[in-house]
Amino acid sequence: MINRRLFIKAGALGASALSVVGLASARNEKSRSNARTNKPIVIATWDFGVAANQAAWTVLASGGRALDAVETGVRVPEADLANPTVGKGGYPDRDGHVTLDACIMDDKGNCGSVAALEHIAHPISVARLVMEKTPHVMLVGEGALQFALANGFEQEKLLTPESEAAWKAWLKKGKYEPVINIENKSFTSDRLPGNRYNHDTIGMLALDSSGNLSGACTTSGMAFKMRGRVGDSPIIGAGLYVDNEVGGATATGVGEEVIRTVGSFLVVELMRQGMSPREACREAVVRIIKKKPETAKKIQVGFLALNKQGEYGAFSLQKGFSYAVCDAKQQDLLMDGESVY
Ligand code: GLY
Repeated sequence: MINRRLFIKAGALGASALSVVGLASARNEKSRSNARTNKPIVIATWDFGVAANQAAWTVLASGGRALDAVETGVRVPEADLANPTVGKGGYPDRDGHVTLDACIMDDKGNCGSVAALEHIAHPISVARLVMEKTPHVMLVGEGALQFALANGFEQEKLLTPESEAAWKAWLKKGKYEPVINIENKSFTSDRLPGNRYNHDTIGMLALDSSGNLSGACTTSGMAFKMRGRVGDSPIIGAGLYVDNEVGGATATGVGEEVIRTVGSFLVVELMRQGMSPREACREAVVRIIKKKPETAKKIQVGFLALNKQGEYGAFSLQKGFSYAVCDAKQQDLLMDGESVY
């Protein structure tokens, strides 16, 4: 077990500007937790969380709502055609259909979700409208598309030439094999597009200057999944959960294991019982291992959490889960270097 945390500065907030600047001990986390409420703050999963946080920060820094910040933030990777795991350009299912999952939750416990949504580039904004304009929490498939079109969303082709080429390369073997940390550039830069089999997700949590929390989560799901497969990301309690009295949590990785443990809800409840965000994320990871020890060795699952005081933490099954943090003092990409293996 590597007992350290790797801090990577994002500099001007561009992913290309990332450089390793040093190591910090667990004491840093302790001193943060003793500080007064740290707000506003936004945190997000993976390297692409840096650019997403930057967009969210423009909302938070001008006194905006956490809800608006998280929607604005995750729309950035949703629109990034080079990102094969979120939004337009996301890898399709095994039949060549790009199907997107997303959910959003605010400080009042309102939530909205879409699953298996096709032809719409910004599922997070459809999820927000489900929350705000319907008496329901979740719309799926054809019904979600119908709702989006009725509300003015543009129908688009989401399969890009690159994602189509990757799908065709995958079809030659047609074997689903999770690739751990595909979202982390430093782990994947040497992989050919056709080999970038797996997913994942942007999960974002924000605490605004009024002290209110919100979260958003969006993904194209598991690459080359079975038609109709839905992971944890649009499931409130699994991929995302926010309780404005306590904190919020979001998940990334193989969604089936997150659903089995209702992971994000679990993290929030553990924080309610007094755990720090990182301790709660660690315990949620341990629950996954206890349920399926053999599966857990081969997959990645990561949790990210933010509490009401603006303290944050993360933990993952495998090393290499990066997450981005943006507040008045820092715009960093962090990596929890500790792993249970
Ligand atoms: N965590 C994303 C998924 O499993 O679909």
